Amino acid sequence: MRCLILELKLGPILLLLICATITTKAAANGDGYKQCEHTVKKWAFSSQDSEIKDDKHVMRNLLFFLHVPRTGGRTYFHCFLKKLYANAQECPRSYDKLRFDPRKENCRLLSTHDDYSMMVKLPKEQTSVVTILRNPIDRVFSTYEFSVEVAARFLVHRDLTSLSRMAKRARLKAGGVSTLDIWPWKYLVPWMREDLFARRDARISKGQSYIITNDSYDMEEILMPLRDYINDPIAQEIIHNGATFQIAGLTNNSYLAESHEVRRCVLKYQSLGQYVLEVVKKRLDSMLYVGLTENHRESATMFANLVGAQVIAQLTKSSLNSDFSIANGSEQRSLLPNSKSDANHQENNSYRKLKKVSSPSKDEAENSNMDAGKLMEAYESCISSLRNSQSERRAKSLKRISPANFTKEARRKVPEQLLQEITSLNSLDMQLYSYAQNIFAKQQALMVQNMVRAENLPSTLDERAHNNSYSLPSWKVIVLATTSLLVLFFVFHFVNARRRTSKVKL
Ligand SMILES: *[C@@H]1O[C@H](CO)[C@@H](O)[C@H](O)[C@H]1NC(C)=O
Ligand SMILES: *[C@@H]1O[C@H](CO)[C@@H](O)[C@H](O)[C@H]1NC(C)=O
Ligand SMILES: *[C@@H]1O[C@H](CO)[C@@H](O)[C@H](O)[C@H]1NC(C)=O
Ligand SMILES: *[C@@H]1O[C@H](CO)[C@@H](O)[C@H](O)[C@H]1NC(C)=O
Ligand SMILES: *[C@@H]1O[C@H](CO)[C@@H](O)[C@H](O)[C@H]1NC(C)=O
Repeated sequence: MRCLILELKLGPILLLLICATITTKAAANGDGYKQCEHTVKKWAFSSQDSEIKDDKHVMRNLLFFLHVPRTGGRTYFHCFLKKLYANAQECPRSYDKLRFDPRKENCRLLSTHDDYSMMVKLPKEQTSVVTILRNPIDRVFSTYEFSVEVAARFLVHRDLTSLSRMAKRARLKAGGVSTLDIWPWKYLVPWMREDLFARRDARISKGQSYIITNDSYDMEEILMPLRDYINDPIAQEIIHNGATFQIAGLTNNSYLAESHEVRRCVLKYQSLGQYVLEVVKKRLDSMLYVGLTENHRESATMFANLVGAQVIAQLTKSSLNSDFSIANGSEQRSLLPNSKSDANHQENNSYRKLKKVSSPSKDEAENSNMDAGKLMEAYESCISSLRNSQSERRAKSLKRISPANFTKEARRKVPEQLLQEITSLNSLDMQLYSYAQNIFAKQQALMVQNMVRAENLPSTLDERAHNNSYSLPSWKVIVLATTSLLVLFFVFHFVNARRRTSKVKL
């Protein structure tokens, strides 16, 4: 009896308590969202660039190559930019330094995986930004494969202890910079490396009693399956929507303290991503150049014309103190990483090695002859050797995780459901990519238009426009064309006027 009364009395209290917890929880969630929405909106508002400048296609003094990882930007860096700019003109933060050092003034080229927040350190009005985007699904695959490729090189070591001992020694010798210092690989490679070692140890302790599947992207006895990789919190933090976050300046590597709160909010409440996307689209709009990994040839041609030609013009103008130069064919071979020295150590990474050996020669006669077409020729021969050495390195490294092998065939067998998962994990990047495709189409239409115009000019005006299909009409050509039209116009008028006056006289 007393029990029942007690229960009756306690019932409503309990109910109340439960209700109270639920409401406070809901309120907290609501507040969390509200708070986040406020944070993200505030960021978006302060990140809007005032307006898109009409002269966005005119190259400014400093070129900032915002290199989104795994978009093929490295070939642009080594086969275009390194041929245009001398080492001395490179800002101290092109992959090989840990943090940008603004003390080095007058640098003209900055190529880096750092995000857009880098702009706070640059003279904004004097900086032109360029970038390359890639289909997000392929970018995720490539990120996974490259993480495995680099991590697998370490498997020559017996265990992680012997590895870190050797790495430390090597790092001291090499001056302390490696792929593992470069974002995002400094997180992605050690993660994969530890995983590879753990799986190898597990295999050893099992003896031969394990079965290996025939799917390289899902071979858990050997390496972390792709499915696990993309669902890990680290991938969430660093890989998915990576292009959007990088152009937003909101990566995990951002220079701005407030970026991290914004990123956390966007990761927590997906709908807030749209605010970020809008900012990023505007930024793409105001870039000097946007390339697409998929449209490689067209992108490279456009780069040579839009960016290369202007860099050449700019540097020729300022070549009184001429320390800019264009490396010629004989030097391209030295641009290649030495494939014999397939890195067992992160210190032998290609970023640093490539940089070290590629001190361009200084040949002014050559410079004055350089144009977009020649640049393109140099590029073609440079990339083919760069690619050869890259695939050699890759094959050598992947041997260590055989029978896993990232072939086209293996790729085709990846289940559709996994691809859809990647798509939905990268919804911002998917939207951004289709936006970039539009920009690219517009850029290309503009370039073709300009080329056609150049083709139609009389050959006396500019021979290059005829001999060389890559040339854009230079300003000189346009000015000349306009001038000749004006002259024709005046001559015509003059003659007419004379005729009229003679008529009057008659
Ligand atoms: C891989 O294994 C599956 C089933 O286990 C089989 O259907 C498929 O044909 C195999 N593929 C190859 C290339 O061996
Ligand atoms: C960036 O992400 C990595 C991997 O998840 C993490 O270890 C690191 O602490 C993060 N850095 C920041 C600033 O959040
Ligand atoms: C490049 O330079 C070397 C000498 O350094 C010269 O022999 C060679 O002809 C040059 N190549 C081109 C394509 O100009
Ligand atoms: C880099 O590779 C070379 C072989 O080309 C090797 O002699 C050297 O020890 C390696 N460096 C490091 C730091 O491991
Ligand atoms: C991986 O595949 C490539 C080409 O598809 C082949 O050349 C290479 O030998 C394979 N590697 C291994 C370790 O099987």
